[in-house]
Amino acid sequence: MTTIEKFNDHVMHTYGRFDVVFDKGEKRSGIDENGKQYIDFGSGIGTNSLGFCDNDWVEAVCSQVKSIQHTSNYYYTKVQADFAEKLCNITGYSKIFFGNSGAEANECAIKLARKYSFDKYGKGRHNIVTLVNSFHGRTLCTLSATGQDSFHNYFFPFVEGFVNAKANDIDDLKSKLDNVCAVMIEFVQGEGGVNALEKEYVKQLAEICREKDILLIADEVQTGVGRTGKFLASEHFGVKPDITTLAKGIAGGLPMGACLANEKCDQVLSKGTHGSTFGGNPIACAGGMAVLNKVCNEKFLDEVSEKGKYIKNKLLTFDQVEAVSGIGMMIGITLKNKSAADVVAKALEEGLMLLTAKEKVRLLPPLNITYDEIDTGLKIFEKIIQ
Ligand SMILES: Cc1ncc(COP(=O)(O)O)c(C=O)c1O
Repeated sequence: MTTIEKFNDHVMHTYGRFDVVFDKGEKRSGIDENGKQYIDFGSGIGTNSLGFCDNDWVEAVCSQVKSIQHTSNYYYTKVQADFAEKLCNITGYSKIFFGNSGAEANECAIKLARKYSFDKYGKGRHNIVTLVNSFHGRTLCTLSATGQDSFHNYFFPFVEGFVNAKANDIDDLKSKLDNVCAVMIEFVQGEGGVNALEKEYVKQLAEICREKDILLIADEVQTGVGRTGKFLASEHFGVKPDITTLAKGIAGGLPMGACLANEKCDQVLSKGTHGSTFGGNPIACAGGMAVLNKVCNEKFLDEVSEKGKYIKNKLLTFDQVEAVSGIGMMIGITLKNKSAADVVAKALEEGLMLLTAKEKVRLLPPLNITYDEIDTGLKIFEKIIQ
């Protein structure tokens, strides 16, 4: 029995998988069971921020495995304390709740916002505005938050209290603020098609939230931890959300989600109101520390921006590329005559891992990808789309 047969016999068929079995990874390439190499322009959907098995990351993780792998959150670990301190220092937030995924980080943000409002104003002010075309996760609550009807099927009843506003339409937002405790945004909608919000809209939205004591939640699960060339995408927009959620690239490929809160709301989730057995797991924190040690560096982040520009400029010289979108190394590609799904499938055959986002091809390369690796990947891409 092949791995694929065994897999399909025993694992639920919730993904449309490609017929490749990955055995290992080196630097920015995955290697399948037959030894074939694939340049990685997807980083496991933005997660392997330092590529495969970065030496310092491996060392940090292995050393942690050998000392202590887990304690319940009824005790303290130094590595979680160190990681939280570093993340707070970098981002300017005052407290963090650790979970294991983006959805869990967003669940925490949603619970926090509702309790903030409940504590201050009592019941009823529980609505949360999210944007049309957003994506916030796969749990029932984060699916309910997601602003795409295609996700609102089968699992009825969905969680009440989410209202969608049109992105970049401040009047639409203003008309949807009844009984609202929070507005949740992605600065660049990732799954929704790599679309960045307009700066002026974000500024106005943040101002309205401040005036009305509505918490601003930034879902930076995909945009955070250096992906856009700043540690947080909010830095491009000149706003400081009350809550920011992170996941994906934060621990370099280990499961971790984080909900960061500012002083206005960092005491809201009190003892017994929230929890997660694995949240803040020492091994994930050690991996996260190795990521922060590399990514939180001006030169490194500038290079992410430069590489992003380099990739976009090259893409725009390809005949079949109609437009590019996104910030830093979060890139959406609109093709003239080809379907993104077909291109992604063909690219894999040719040894290049890509992603889609709606009708676009999406690139989320490892943040430390080299120019040579970029050139190799783009050559394959150009060949396929021609
Ligand atoms: C913006 C955003 N929020 C939340 C999520 C959900 O993250 P996870 O799959 O880790 O639960 C994703 C995943 O793609 C995302 O892009």
